[in-house]
Amino acid sequence: MRSPTNWLAVSLLVALVAGNHGIAKQADPLPSQSMEVLATDPLFASDGVHCNAALSDWSRSDQPYCFHSSRSINTDINTQGGIIFFLHIPKTGGTTLRLNLERYDHINYIFAKNYSIYSDTASLVEDAILNGTSNKTVLFYEIHASTAPSFYQLRHRLRRWKDIATKNGVPTFFFTLLRDPIAYAFSHFNFFHVQRRNPTFEQCNATLDNFLRLTLFNPQCHFLFQGEWAMRAQKPKNKVLTTQECHVVQDYMLQLLDWIGTTERLSNDTLPLLSRLLNLPENHTWINHKVSKTAQGVNYFGKENVTEAVLEWIKHDMSLMDTGLYQMAGDCYRYDAVYETES
Ligand SMILES: *[C@@H]1O[C@H](CO)[C@@H](O)[C@H](O)[C@H]1NC(C)=O
Ligand SMILES: *[C@@H]1O[C@H](CO)[C@@H](O)[C@H](O)[C@H]1NC(C)=O
Ligand SMILES: *[C@@H]1O[C@H](CO)[C@@H](O)[C@H](O)[C@H]1NC(C)=O
Ligand SMILES: *[C@@H]1O[C@H](CO)[C@@H](O)[C@H](O)[C@H]1NC(C)=O
Ligand SMILES: *[C@@H]1O[C@H](CO)[C@@H](O)[C@H](O)[C@H]1NC(C)=O
Ligand SMILES: *[C@@H]1O[C@H](CO)[C@@H](O)[C@H](O)[C@H]1NC(C)=O
Ligand SMILES: *[C@@H]1O[C@H](CO)[C@@H](O)[C@H](O)[C@H]1NC(C)=O
Repeated sequence: MRSPTNWLAVSLLVALVAGNHGIAKQADPLPSQSMEVLATDPLFASDGVHCNAALSDWSRSDQPYCFHSSRSINTDINTQGGIIFFLHIPKTGGTTLRLNLERYDHINYIFAKNYSIYSDTASLVEDAILNGTSNKTVLFYEIHASTAPSFYQLRHRLRRWKDIATKNGVPTFFFTLLRDPIAYAFSHFNFFHVQRRNPTFEQCNATLDNFLRLTLFNPQCHFLFQGEWAMRAQKPKNKVLTTQECHVVQDYMLQLLDWIGTTERLSNDTLPLLSRLLNLPENHTWINHKVSKTAQGVNYFGKENVTEAVLEWIKHDMSLMDTGLYQMAGDCYRYDAVYETES
């Protein structure tokens, strides 16, 4: 039996900086479209946890953004195995992780790319939180895209996974990646609309008109809150995320995620952190999975193709909430503030 007291024997401390403008909020009801998918999952039933938010006020730059506190990352995962949960927001670099990690025998990589895979495989995590993983393996559980549940929809389940695993001395590490909103806008447009990668998105040529028309409103927070369908086509009839809802998402992220990396700093922060947690061999080199800029011979649209005014529009009109989340990741989960402690 593992004792819950030894799982913190060696830990990494991350300076966690959380906003301090507390407004308690009740989470809003889920959008009906995603409820259909999830209605059959009893684990989405409320466990009574609700936000007692410590939030930043994104509209007021004069407010202090964060206060410092610390949280530990459980590194026992590298000696005794455990559970890594990865919430993969599209276009943040997550595919690089999967392509590098799937090949290791001591990593049981589960790619829950839609609801049916999620519902078929969640039991693996349910087993692991009770009895740990066999032979010191790591259950690496990735949630991604299409009909898979959103982070917000999973919040109660994630809380329960974490609490029960902790009680049973099973190490866990829950994380996600966020991307700079301007880079995100171009990447999304090129990948989904220009490069004809996904037939459910409108296909078009790389022109400024198309870019302005198809740029999404706070896509990362939409994905976290509602799932991929909310990004698929943001038509006026679709519910538009409110700042308050995104604040709720942010609060759950701070509560439930041990780490929020950024795409920009992937190689400097998240990959070294994972190398440690997963006990990767010394000679492991991370192979970067990059989609070619000229994939399939189509044009590529980037920062260099638009004016400063368009960049400002992305940042201030279209991505204020995503910018808030991105800054939270950079401020609150700082790899340079990660250090090792011996108990
Ligand atoms: C989910 O993904 C798997 C693997 O790609 C596929 O076989 C299955 O048909 C998908 N399920 C649905 C409902 O789309
Ligand atoms: C966990 O272990 C106990 C006792 O070793 C066993 O009875 C139980 O079936 C196991 N549960 C799972 C989910 O493997
Ligand atoms: C655990 O490892 C041992 C020795 O390598 C092997 O015999 C056994 O089948 C493994 N068990 C599982 C559940 O993979
Ligand atoms: C994209 O551009 C090509 C070449 O200019 C043109 O033939 C084609 O009709 C355009 N496609 C769309 C969807 O506008
Ligand atoms: C990552 O680290 C390298 C080497 O230390 C450094 O040159 C680079 O600027 C860093 N990248 C970022 C985004 O900080
Ligand atoms: C890393 O080292 C192991 C054993 O030392 C070897 O089996 C493996 O092929 C090496 N991998 C690479 C990518 O060099
Ligand atoms: C964007 O700018 C680059 C560099 O100037 C150019 O090569 C490319 O053709 C431009 N793309 C479009 C769609 O205009």
